[in-house]
Amino acid sequence: MKLAILGGSFNPVHVGHLVLADTVLSALRYDRIILIPTYQSPFKQGAVGGSPQDRLDMLAASIPGDPRLTMDDCEIKRKGVSYTVDTIKDIITRYRPEGKLGLVLGDDLAGSFLTWRQASEIMSQVDIIIAHRIAAASESFPYPHKQLNNAIIEISSAVLRERIQEQGNWRYLVPAGARVIIEDRKLYGYIPQEARGTAPAVPLIPAVPSTWGLVSEVETAVRMAVSFSRFLHSRNTALLCWDLCIRFGLDPQKGYLAGISHDICKPLGEEEMLFLVRMDGKEIDAIERKKPSLLHGRAAAVVLKNRFNIHDEAILEAVRLHTTGGMGMGPLAKVVYIADKLEISREDLDPAIQELRETADLDRLFGAVLEETVGYLRSQALDISEGTLRLFETVHKRNSR
Ligand SMILES: [Fe+2]
Ligand SMILES: [Fe+2]
Repeated sequence: MKLAILGGSFNPVHVGHLVLADTVLSALRYDRIILIPTYQSPFKQGAVGGSPQDRLDMLAASIPGDPRLTMDDCEIKRKGVSYTVDTIKDIITRYRPEGKLGLVLGDDLAGSFLTWRQASEIMSQVDIIIAHRIAAASESFPYPHKQLNNAIIEISSAVLRERIQEQGNWRYLVPAGARVIIEDRKLYGYIPQEARGTAPAVPLIPAVPSTWGLVSEVETAVRMAVSFSRFLHSRNTALLCWDLCIRFGLDPQKGYLAGISHDICKPLGEEEMLFLVRMDGKEIDAIERKKPSLLHGRAAAVVLKNRFNIHDEAILEAVRLHTTGGMGMGPLAKVVYIADKLEISREDLDPAIQELRETADLDRLFGAVLEETVGYLRSQALDISEGTLRLFETVHKRNSR
């Protein structure tokens, strides 16, 4: 997969960032672009505004239901000053892009590029993409690069912060999800309309009656229901489901929907989980009773059906079985089971699975992931459901023939 990265403080994220990302994808034919918020820019030390968590949350709330566009929190996790050279090494190691990684730079930064830490190392590792940012600030870049002829959107996070502080005109310059967070958390000196004694704001997120509208609706619900790291895991799982569905001839939208929603019930308490699961009409077995957290897949399938009116059996099965697997599970269920364990932020993967990552044989990949999971559960002396064991024996027998 051809990948590009776009870093920045995203303090806050604005439409210019998303338009730029979209232009990189369409004009230079990258398959995916990753937005990476800095923890501390070497050039903007002491910048005021949202905390790293606020910036991450705004970005997570703003990336559209578009699998070509995603985000990574590696610089925030790493803390300290965020150097691009470290991020590039990390992204290449984890994502293993096809060809050279693309690095998007605004032409306002081009003149200072040689002062960056290990600038020549950066140039050897990536294809530099120079984008127009602010007309007056553009500088030439005398090293090999790809030039992006993007439209200039005269907006910056600094100007936005000022406008918010001054209760000026900013609302439609940030994506709707980020806007809600700025208003809820009163970031950048925002004062609510009521406190200013003027008319209340109009509803923020209109319903969109399309398949992607449904995906967005489910994705928003997941973002509200689970922790930030769980949301990123869900999003990464959805993206990998999308890719695997394309590889194995399945519907990628269904894969994305199952992937994004599979853990929506993970934070529920035991009682809520049992209440939901009783609605699917199936038995609760001894292990599920002993460890109700195993039921979060079944509970999520009930939520998809009852709250979002999703009746596609392949999607419901995939979500229901992602924790334990089950006899006779279909290809979409295998894809979600695999993606849940292999998504990009999972660490310490078995080398045998790493080797199989690109295989065109769904059953082999599924067998390897199942074997690793069962091996791990056994090594930790954890309970294994009967369904998982029976499935494991069947798959193991078939794969060792
Ligand atoms: Fe799960
Ligand atoms: Fe999961």
